[in-house]
Amino acid sequence: MTLIRSELIGFGHYLPAKVVTNDDLAKIVDTSDEWIRTRTGIVSRHISENEATSDFAYNAAQMALKTAGITAEDLDMIIVATVTPDNTTPSVAAQISGRLGTKSGTICTDISAACSGFVYALTMVDNMIRLGQIKTALVIGAETLSKLVDWTDRNTCVLFGDGAGAVVVRAREGNGTSADTGVLATKLYADGSHYDSLRTLGGVSTTQTSGFVTMDGKEVFKYAVNALTQAAEVVMQQAGVTSEDVDWILPHQANIRIIEGVGKKLNVPEEKVIVTVDHHGNTSAASIPLALSENYAAGRLKKGDLVVLTAMGAGFTWGGALVRI
Ligand code: ACO
Repeated sequence: MTLIRSELIGFGHYLPAKVVTNDDLAKIVDTSDEWIRTRTGIVSRHISENEATSDFAYNAAQMALKTAGITAEDLDMIIVATVTPDNTTPSVAAQISGRLGTKSGTICTDISAACSGFVYALTMVDNMIRLGQIKTALVIGAETLSKLVDWTDRNTCVLFGDGAGAVVVRAREGNGTSADTGVLATKLYADGSHYDSLRTLGGVSTTQTSGFVTMDGKEVFKYAVNALTQAAEVVMQQAGVTSEDVDWILPHQANIRIIEGVGKKLNVPEEKVIVTVDHHGNTSAASIPLALSENYAAGRLKKGDLVVLTAMGAGFTWGGALVRI
């Protein structure tokens, strides 16, 4: 049976130059390298000095277009997953469209699903490709979380980082089996009853500011391990594969203990679990495409590899995608 598949044909990423270590943070809040490393696995993170989310997204997009071997003219759609846009409106996607010089008519939108944003965006693009509405899309996750944290709050400021990742997705016919390349299965979830567990204190229509991030860390932690595992299991089931068939598990990079917990629950050896949280921190919607591109550029992820993407974030939102690179 032939089936339209969304192939991932290009990968890009960008990180701001400034690296902030745990010791650097210990100079501004009451914390230590030992506390941060043992609780989170984070050693350092990249922090924006004077670049905005659209600058990260633009650089990641250019790299993704280059590795895909296409130009901005070929794009039917740009979608940016972010909770830290340059302006409340218009979208970062519209900015990227203008800067790249896409054709008139290229669809542009941002999506707000916090740390699950990239998996949400990829799922939506995959469905539009399957319906024949678009052929080629740029899916970007880009964040400047450093602007959304209170730098006097040690509970949150040590966890996050800035950056962007981008993937070019293009329609191609497959055989409808798990041997096809591209997006093989997706599944999204949300449960708004956990709205208050992880959110900003304020927003445009309440405080006229973006507000700072606040969370119930322990609740997020427990929920994340189960949600990330569930989404991974469901997409593997949908495609008729098991964790043994999979080359890599790529969970949202929030905390090494969450990542290890998911690996254990899925019964996969740690060398099959991709980890970048140590040098990126939690970059929210950027974390998965950033890890994909960084590992692809390093030659670790290869054409033909079967990868489970699984993410969870504020809302709560969560979801997974099974992709063959
Ligand atoms: N340095 C030193 N001490 C700290 C720090 C810090 N940076 N931050 C908090 N503490 C203190 C607290 O004040 C508290 O002290 P107290 O007991 O005297 O009140 C104590 O450490 C808390 O310790 P624990 O509760 O044992 O910390 P825990 O092991 O729960 O770790 C953490 C906290 C890292 C936040 C953990 O709960 C976590 O990772 N949760 C997930 C949250 C997350 O990843 N959020 C990101 C967004 S959601 C997502 O991406 C999925």
